[in-house]
Amino acid sequence: MDRFRIHGGRPLQGEIAVSGAKNSALPALAACLLTGEPVTLSRIPPVRDIRTMLQLLEHTGARVDVDGQLVTVRAQALDRPEAPYEVVKTMRASSLVLGPLVARTGKARVSMPGGCAIGARPINLHVLALEQLGAEIRQSHGYVEALAPEGLKGGLVQFDRITVTGTEDVLMAAVLARGETVIGNAAREPEVQDLAELLNKMGARIEGAGTSTIRVQGVGELHGAQHTIIADRIEAGTFLIAGAMTRGDLVIADCVPGHLDALAVKLRQAGAEVTEVRGDALGVRASGKLQATDITTEEFPGFATDLQAQYMAMLTLAEGISFVTETIFENRFMHAQELARMGANIRVEGRRAIVAGAGELTGAQVIASDLRASASLVLAGLVARGETVVDRVYHIDRGYERIEEKLARVGARIERES
Ligand code: EPU
Repeated sequence: MDRFRIHGGRPLQGEIAVSGAKNSALPALAACLLTGEPVTLSRIPPVRDIRTMLQLLEHTGARVDVDGQLVTVRAQALDRPEAPYEVVKTMRASSLVLGPLVARTGKARVSMPGGCAIGARPINLHVLALEQLGAEIRQSHGYVEALAPEGLKGGLVQFDRITVTGTEDVLMAAVLARGETVIGNAAREPEVQDLAELLNKMGARIEGAGTSTIRVQGVGELHGAQHTIIADRIEAGTFLIAGAMTRGDLVIADCVPGHLDALAVKLRQAGAEVTEVRGDALGVRASGKLQATDITTEEFPGFATDLQAQYMAMLTLAEGISFVTETIFENRFMHAQELARMGANIRVEGRRAIVAGAGELTGAQVIASDLRASASLVLAGLVARGETVVDRVYHIDRGYERIEEKLARVGARIERES
């Protein structure tokens, strides 16, 4: 198992480039199952969750060709329309194949996800939504099975609460359903919009993606297409926080500044300077002490839950007391205990964490519990006095492309040990 050894204390300086969005690439790859023609996706980030999804596509019978960050999927015959437990347990987003498989083949079987380090990850909302499109759902032996031998039919889907992959899953099902589907209380994340753009290139008729109401006119079949995945706003946000925390002077290139507004506002409140240096780049600069700021995670365009852990790492250095409220997942404070081992002063009370800025962190041995928690520990390591060792970095490899190499190029002292 790999670990990172980090020597803190260096401000990050220079330019750092953002990869394609993992959470956009995952549904885009699942969408390839909707046609027998080749779909070519570029800017697919070479991270572990993507490799898992490619294996899953191959398991269903699709052919996958990878050439660097260019991936072509040919899903001609899908003789095994299922996501087995072994895959789903390592990557919950595997449930994204449920909608496209049942829409294309009339049946799909997906292992139930179970809990994970950040909370219960149920798929009841995916299931209810597919039922609205006429799928018959059975649950047994830890699997959800969706059947629609005569095909799906359009319907009204009104989500009880906003779900990102749930919206994506039903969107992929609706494009091949007969008639019109209206998805209410839909997720407005940029990744949903990116998926709709790809599906429309494949011949789907979707309107309203990026708003709370998405309308889909079903079509008989989809065709091949080419598409470039959007920039990873969470990776970009992680680097913005790293720039501010280390009191650096960093340019985050190849990103979409408009996707990072909620974070930029908070960083400015904390005393960092965040500017749009180009149409596709943000600059971050900080000197002196950062100030305490409260954050509450929300669905897009609110403050992303996927940046909460990293922001909390920054708050441990800020002057004053900050309140961090997590509204999306019920158990997403695992990093607090590890940050405490580095000298942070954090009290967790249910869904709220109270962070009293300690002024300084000290290097320690810490363990990563999930993807974004591990990113927060790496950031803490960059500012801690002395040496920090972050164990179990396979979590971070699920979603960040060689983060240690990117950080080292802008001045961080970080190395991977196998
Ligand atoms: N929920 C249900 N039932 C469902 C689905 C969701 O109760 O059927 C609940 C969840 O338990 C959670 C809330 O609804 O409390 C929102 O979950 P959502 O479904 O939106 O999360 P997700 O689609 O499983 C995606 C990202 C996550 C990100 C969340 C929230 C992908 C592949 N994953 O997950 O990303 O945190 O949206 O923005 O897009 C990550 O990249 O580190 C990550 C965890």
